Amino acid sequence: MNEDMRADIERILLTEEEIQEKVTALGRQITQDYKGKNLMLVSVLKGSIAFMADLMRAIDLPLKIDFLSVSSYGASTSSSGTVEIRKDLDIDLHGVDLLIVEDILDSGRTLHKIIQLLKERGTASIKIACLLDKPERRVVPLSADYTCFDIPDRFVVGYGLDYDQHYRNLPYIGVLKPEVYEK
Ligand code: IMP
Ligand code: MG
Repeated sequence: MNEDMRADIERILLTEEEIQEKVTALGRQITQDYKGKNLMLVSVLKGSIAFMADLMRAIDLPLKIDFLSVSSYGASTSSSGTVEIRKDLDIDLHGVDLLIVEDILDSGRTLHKIIQLLKERGTASIKIACLLDKPERRVVPLSADYTCFDIPDRFVVGYGLDYDQHYRNLPYIGVLKPEVYEK
């Protein structure tokens, strides 16, 4: 990567303002939909931390949060299909209305596996909230219940999303220059 990480960005796809506006609106929608329910947000580390932090503050309801970590790509730009839990949840899921908070739905393999695992734990319901969706890339038939943005099939970084653990701290979402990962 370049000394100046912004120089590795081909173009800004979503600005900070665009992201904030959508996430706030989604928080409002979830506030309506989950009134009287037993809401728990589960975020899949690490890509969804920025989305989780903003989304939970946009939801005006009592809720719990927890984190799950699964094996990732390493220095690659597509997922392998084998998903292993690296850090499990701390909180019991019995009777919980679970909302999985994910950064991006790509092939769908990761979320599909996570849902299979969590379904066995006595949840009242499970739904998915995704910041980004690349519908063209889907391999496993799966769709999010809430999506902030559909995006084209380009590798993006920022607002939590990484390439080889970098760029997560960019405040916007940008398309990574292919020469960064094609080297
Ligand atoms: P899937 O199993 O192919 O759906 O992969 C989903 C995971 O891949 C996401 O949670 C991200 O961590 C990662 N991912 C997919 N596309 C991108 C991207 O464009 N930029 C950064 N990470 C990505
Ligand atoms: Mg991820």
